[in-house]
Amino acid sequence: MDEIMTLTFEVPGDDFTRAGEASSAVKKRLKQLGFDPDTIRRVAIAMYEGEINMVIHANGGDIQVDITPKAIDMRLRDNGPGIENIELAMQEGYSTAPDNVRSLGFGAGMGLPNMKKYTDEMKIESELGVGTTVSMRVLT
Ligand SMILES: Nc1ncnc2c1ncn2[C@@H]1O[C@H](COP(=O)(O)OP(=O)(O)OP(=O)(O)O)[C@@H](O)[C@H]1O
Ligand SMILES: [Mg+2]
Repeated sequence: MDEIMTLTFEVPGDDFTRAGEASSAVKKRLKQLGFDPDTIRRVAIAMYEGEINMVIHANGGDIQVDITPKAIDMRLRDNGPGIENIELAMQEGYSTAPDNVRSLGFGAGMGLPNMKKYTDEMKIESELGVGTTVSMRVLT
């Protein structure tokens, strides 16, 4: 592969039928590029959770993925409500998901903790009323 490959995605808000499309596409591309299954699995889980969060909590947004032989960098950006207390949001089991979302099986409060667990670096920048950007890196 070339030194760097960049993939970008628009994530529609509130469309659960399409949620997960971006992470599926990245998973497929990483397979084609021959990355090892564990790396692909970590990227796919972390990105899926971030993508779902954008749909559930932030009315969608955009994702940029930079792929190099050494690392996969994901940047998930939205113009949602922002996260008031990032430390609290990172705790296992913390969720503000409404009942209609919980009935679909989301809202266990495990997305952000798993994103942290499956990546080598993770940074959340958020401003109330402005939006949230989550940056994650998986080393190969
Ligand atoms: N992009 C975002 N914009 C605004 N709030 C967010 C965003 N991502 C997460 N949050 C807040 O952080 C909380 C915890 O997120 P997390 O992904 O861990 O759990 P969840 O999405 O509620 O449930 P689960 O991911 O287990 O289905 C959310 O309930 C929400 O309050
Ligand atoms: Mg979540």
